Amino acid sequence: MQIYNRIATLRQALAEERAQGRTLALVPTMGNLHEGHLQLVRLARQHCDRVAVSIFVNPLQFGLNEDWERYPRTLEADIARLETEDCDFLFHPSETEIYPNGMADQTRVVVPTMTDILCGASRPGHFEGVTTVVAKLFNIVQPDCAVFGVKDYQQLAVIRRMVEDLCIPVAIVPAPIAREDDGLAMSSRNSYISAAERPGVTVLYQALCWCRDQIVAGGRRDFAALEQEAAGRIEEAGFRPDYVSICNARTLDPAAHDDGEMVVLGAMYTMGARLIDNVTLTLG
Ligand code: PAF
Repeated sequence: MQIYNRIATLRQALAEERAQGRTLALVPTMGNLHEGHLQLVRLARQHCDRVAVSIFVNPLQFGLNEDWERYPRTLEADIARLETEDCDFLFHPSETEIYPNGMADQTRVVVPTMTDILCGASRPGHFEGVTTVVAKLFNIVQPDCAVFGVKDYQQLAVIRRMVEDLCIPVAIVPAPIAREDDGLAMSSRNSYISAAERPGVTVLYQALCWCRDQIVAGGRRDFAALEQEAAGRIEEAGFRPDYVSICNARTLDPAAHDDGEMVVLGAMYTMGARLIDNVTLTLG
């Protein structure tokens, strides 16, 4: 695996690959790689000849009172994990390499409306930080495709929209959610969950699955009531729900009765973490 932290040298290496006619997949990450990330790398390999992973804890997507400072940075362990996978390039730039003019004056990429709801409502500015850095990574790497986890469902929808709206020639490949044996979606932020809280946090996934089953098997279409009942289940388990929302799977608008593809999204707070999850459903 070739490792780069400068844009210029990475571009030189990637240009050589392109000159050989090889296709390139990008897996953007913030590091602290777990099995879920490794599944993204394996999926990337199925789509392209070469795989590049980026590791950059992007300050622009963290709010003032969020976890930027304590976000786990485990570069040595990440490199060791990637060495055992079929990863060709690792790009881990410094903050000044990505934001040479500082963050305040950085040109931004904004996907409107869709970013004001759900996680965007609780994390103002978050998606603007994500789309800005992802657009930069796309310009730096110029991949043929890029792999994003479905776990960050709203992020995936927002990036798809950005790519469509700005005619960015990158195919977006969604990767299924990797889960622990008890159903908890894998996430770097799971390390913030205390041992005492850990058994109970599966309530988020269970509440979303319950909603899905009520719609699919139970035939219910009273979405607002379902969202409230699911949030109640989370509260009863001792956690603070942020939202449970049943949406159109593509637009993220509130689900309509005749929508064929829906997604049930949820977020909740533990003592030390904010967890997100989702389940999709198709109605015949
Ligand atoms: O999903 C993430 O890890 C980040 O939001 C991403 C896409 C790497 C952008 O910083």
